[in-house]
Amino acid sequence: DSPRILIIPGSARDGSLNRRLAAVAAATARAAGLQVTEMDLRALALPVYDGDLEAASGVPAGAHELRQAIATSDGVLIVTPEYNGFPTPLVINAFDWLSRIPPGDGQAGGLAATANKPAALLSASPGPLGALRSMNFLRQYLQMAFAMLVVPQQFALGRANEAFDGEGALKDARAAQSVEKVIAALATLARAMPTPR
Ligand code: FNR
Repeated sequence: DSPRILIIPGSARDGSLNRRLAAVAAATARAAGLQVTEMDLRALALPVYDGDLEAASGVPAGAHELRQAIATSDGVLIVTPEYNGFPTPLVINAFDWLSRIPPGDGQAGGLAATANKPAALLSASPGPLGALRSMNFLRQYLQMAFAMLVVPQQFALGRANEAFDGEGALKDARAAQSVEKVIAALATLARAMPTPR
């Protein structure tokens, strides 16, 4: 079976450049024969992490949904904007909640779902550096705290507000090729260590 790739945009807004880049990545992955699932973090409706809320009502269902989506994928691609040099709270908050899911009822905890899971990063910004700094932080966060295997290949799409044509494809062939390389690296690692089904 072909690897199952979960694609997570780090911005949920309608006009999001990162959602557009995620759509390009999804099309690229499907063209490469991968199975793609796209996740909308906004739909998880996660409140900002609050220990009192957790103590009162446990980890919200949205975090369990994210855990399940990761657990049933062979690789995860995150496409992140940059807010003041940092990945968005939408991404960090979702993963912080995920990390709070305890093991139980024959289910692995949140951190068991991410451990040794292949992952890759893309980013986009209207600025010239394409949110590059956010990927550096996100790479460290996912590797150090979540034990994810983040492939070295990554791509930051600068001037992203001018990067897409009317069909949503990348105008620059080299940019499109860079996305293909990141997907290929993720697919190679996902094939090498597929998650048991
Ligand atoms: C930004 N933006 C931004 N861009 C950048 O390249 N480096 C940065 O540090 C920041 N900082 C920043 C902080 C905050 C709070 C906001 C709201 C925005 C601009 C950002 O790249 C731009 O809004 C993108 O369009 C956001 O990504 P989406 O929503 O288009 O995917």
